Amino acid sequence: MKLWGGRFRKEENKLMEDFNSSLHVDQRLYKEDIRGSIAHVNMLMQSGLLTQQEGEKIVEGLLSVLNDIEEKTLPLEGNYEDIHSFVEVNLTKHIGSTAKKLHTARSRNDQVAVDIRLYAKNKAFEVIERIENLKQTLQAKAKENNVIMPGYTHLQRAQVITFQHHLLAYDQMLKRDKKRIESAIEIMDESPIGCGALAGTTHAINREMTAKELGFSKPVDNFLDGVSDRDYLLELMSGFSILMMHLSRLSEELILWSSQEFKFIQIDDAYSTGSSIMPQKKNPDAAELIRGKTGRVYGSLTSLLTTMKGLPLAYNKDMQEDKEPFFDALDTVLSCLTIMSKMIATMKVNHENMEKAVKKGFLNATEVADYLVSKGVAFRDAHSIVGSIVIYCEDHQKAIEELTLEELRQISSVIDEDIYTFIDYQNILNKGIKVNLLR
Ligand code: ARG
Repeated sequence: MKLWGGRFRKEENKLMEDFNSSLHVDQRLYKEDIRGSIAHVNMLMQSGLLTQQEGEKIVEGLLSVLNDIEEKTLPLEGNYEDIHSFVEVNLTKHIGSTAKKLHTARSRNDQVAVDIRLYAKNKAFEVIERIENLKQTLQAKAKENNVIMPGYTHLQRAQVITFQHHLLAYDQMLKRDKKRIESAIEIMDESPIGCGALAGTTHAINREMTAKELGFSKPVDNFLDGVSDRDYLLELMSGFSILMMHLSRLSEELILWSSQEFKFIQIDDAYSTGSSIMPQKKNPDAAELIRGKTGRVYGSLTSLLTTMKGLPLAYNKDMQEDKEPFFDALDTVLSCLTIMSKMIATMKVNHENMEKAVKKGFLNATEVADYLVSKGVAFRDAHSIVGSIVIYCEDHQKAIEELTLEELRQISSVIDEDIYTFIDYQNILNKGIKVNLLR
């Protein structure tokens, strides 16, 4: 079952065989491996390196191996070194010795490179689709809930905003996350097939043809580079890490907002869990898991960066360790995007509590200063005057808008009746977020 037994005098040690085998991980590349092989065979036929009859027989055989894998009559298991050996050995079982010609002008080094690029490119489009879906969910939720809420800095109430504006901040982050994935796709869109082990081949092959058939924009420009870099996976995983960082921050907010202390939202029962001892508990596990899994995605990125950092050109077996972290990061990102969308779509927003919270904590203090500026006071002086107003309010347990004009005038004589409309929360929003955003 080995692709390379010829120069060995001794059997491979069983422990070594198990240690070396990657089938349990790279089996998910079976479709890409077969697709790459079919493109290679079509090119070999066109270039006269295989006869029409041989080529057609191999393609037919590859398609029947694919069919057997998909029908589950050929389980992806057994004593194989990797998915490439699995496909080739089973092809031989199907069509006999013609299968031995498949690997003409090819190495497993360019084979695995093309498999992983095809797979990653395809999956990256799936990630983009799910980001788009989450963006739409956020936009819809934001539109339904254009209500006032406290905005925070340092987790202290700061200024009035809307829940819509807050959610749409994440929509913007996701827009950039999408761009990062799109750019990673562009970077990986070159075909390494035909690079051979590292130095190409003396056979007159047609790399343009295989690149085109496999949907790449062009063949790579350098053979060593084509087989020995995995920067496109790192690029994707960097994008995944930043995306997860954003999802994690959103998760953190959902966790805070659903606490008794905030009570701004209610996460749907379907995306919450309970406690085995405390009957009253409803825990935001989905959000906590997304926050937790973020670390795992960072870990995958760090793992591959570290694997790659000391490798001389060209291929080294260390690079087989690219797949586990990449697949794990990919699966994690896909599931987190889906759960986040569902959680956002089904959560209830408590308008009343947000409005109540806005009224406590002097969220219009900055606008009182702006009001004084409009009356000719310098901003620094205005800032200090409002500081005194806040102390007065704290001492008398009142909000700024609850002070009488006399009380206000005792602190600053420029204040007039029109202050009350100026510092009304809805008016602040109308002038600030709405007008300046649309300008
Ligand atoms: N399983 C290997 C990998 O994932 C395939 C390439 C093997 N190449 C080799 N020269 N041993 O990297």
